[in-house]
Amino acid sequence: MTVSLLDQLSALVGQAFAQCDLDSSLGRVVVSQRRELGQFQCNGALAAAKAAKRNPREIADQIVAKLQETGHFSDLSLAGPGFINLSLSDDFLLGHINELADDPYFGARHGHDPETVILDYGGPNVAKAMHVGHLRATIIGESLRRLRVFLGDRVISDVHFGDWGLPMGLLIKEIEREQPDLPYFDADFSGPYPATSPVTVEQLQVLYPAASGRSKEDPAFLESARTATFELQQGRPGYRALWQHMLDVSVAETKIDFDLLGANFTEWKGEADTNDHIPGMLKRLEEKGLSELSDGAVIVRVAEEDDKKEMPPLILQKSDGAVMYGTTDLATIEMRQEEHDPDTILYVVDARQSLHFEQVFRAARKCGSLDAEARLEHVGFGTVNGTDGKPLKTRDGGVVRLRSLIDDAISEAHKVVVEAGMEDRFDTAELEAIATRVGVAAIKFADLSNQRMSNYVFDLERFTRFEGKTGPYQMYAAVRIKSMLRKAADQGLTEGALVASKDAERNLMLALAALPQAVQAAAEKNAPNILCEHVYSLTQEFNAFYHDCHVLGEEDAAIRASRLRLCAITLRQIEAVLDILGIDVPERM
Ligand code: ARG
Repeated sequence: MTVSLLDQLSALVGQAFAQCDLDSSLGRVVVSQRRELGQFQCNGALAAAKAAKRNPREIADQIVAKLQETGHFSDLSLAGPGFINLSLSDDFLLGHINELADDPYFGARHGHDPETVILDYGGPNVAKAMHVGHLRATIIGESLRRLRVFLGDRVISDVHFGDWGLPMGLLIKEIEREQPDLPYFDADFSGPYPATSPVTVEQLQVLYPAASGRSKEDPAFLESARTATFELQQGRPGYRALWQHMLDVSVAETKIDFDLLGANFTEWKGEADTNDHIPGMLKRLEEKGLSELSDGAVIVRVAEEDDKKEMPPLILQKSDGAVMYGTTDLATIEMRQEEHDPDTILYVVDARQSLHFEQVFRAARKCGSLDAEARLEHVGFGTVNGTDGKPLKTRDGGVVRLRSLIDDAISEAHKVVVEAGMEDRFDTAELEAIATRVGVAAIKFADLSNQRMSNYVFDLERFTRFEGKTGPYQMYAAVRIKSMLRKAADQGLTEGALVASKDAERNLMLALAALPQAVQAAAEKNAPNILCEHVYSLTQEFNAFYHDCHVLGEEDAAIRASRLRLCAITLRQIEAVLDILGIDVPERM
């Protein structure tokens, strides 16, 4: 497995420290912020001097002398009180890039202990079309899934459908009001289970707000919906059958959205799947004295002494017997523990649910619901705002549907590709396919390139530009390299051994070598924006290279062959990172 360039360098410099009887961990090297002084920098001499009460420049001088002997550096110098600037010899750099090119993961897997990760994201709800809030959950979650797969983890992705709370009872009662003759309301319904659903997803989307509104005005209706929820959870056959229909049409609908966004779930589980687990869980917690009764409800206290803010208990069962969002989440943790024995469970859910997850996680720890070493983490995210800076709304103040956001992005992308003159070059079908890819890439890159926790403004005009830090631009940069490589192949030009003749080539190589750090930091912080920065640095360095260096037109055959190889490696890495971001690159555009 390829060791990252930084790790190799740090080991080299660490060795020099050890040879000077200093702690080798001081040899940690970082990428230099000032390329004109050197490619890398090491600040260890300062800490070493402090510890040994010596002059830092004197120590740095000794280290430099040791490093000189290795022959791996083209330049070594001191700056300020004792910073060491280092630039690699071409031999060393080329050797590393050759290794990197042979590794499909570009060195990212080195030093990573594969683990079992469960990613909980997407989180759609029965009867409600996915909305703008689910956009981020899906885009960020899917990117983290791909990132973990890239790193070699065993990844389980679960959509965790919202299909089990009071909304279900509300819907059942609303449908009963509208279609009282359906067989499902019969207390002794026993099937047969009709093949076609009595409600379409469009109807459900009207029925749910109606039911929700009614429950606020009509206490008797609310009460009947509560009872229906409880009966559904107890397994009343007619309600279960009707519920199954609602789930089926809702799942089919959300699959269309997830397909558009390229989200992949290994599991299509939901809150309802915990139903059979819950009675045993409640019994166990009661017997062990972990839960208690409070005003007829079953709760788990999760407050801790040094809590700064109020931490209400987690309610497991209301006095009417119904179970809650937190109950199904706690049960899901226990079931995931039994089935997968995970090292980590990540919940990619709106930051506004942070209290809920804090309660659930604490309850899970207290109740021993999962392995003591396993990690639970709420990977929160900020809201998507309109150009007015307020949470995105439709013109009449409603929630924006996810599908309409994607449609808008695709039509904006269509405008842009037409403006770029692609209409003349592609037939209608290919143009449509390109616009779809560009539109989806625009939304994804915009979403992922923001810091996860910050809010951002949904501005399609900005997202779809073919320049700067946008998805379409990164995609376009890759397509340009593809078309150049095709041209080279047509002309019978082939790749050859790497050489370095210009700094632009070296800089591009250094950008390529930075992938492992980017991937590892992104995984550690659940921060896909780090990968956006990385791919942007690659396309920037590639531009600079392409500006400075001829490729197809280069006369020196060895240099041309080397540059072709460098282009091919760069393309592979850009595509790999874009793939983690969920962006796929067309053959041409
Ligand atoms: N269905 C929930 C919602 O729309 C999100 C579910 C998140 N996952 C979880 N395990 N609670 O808010």
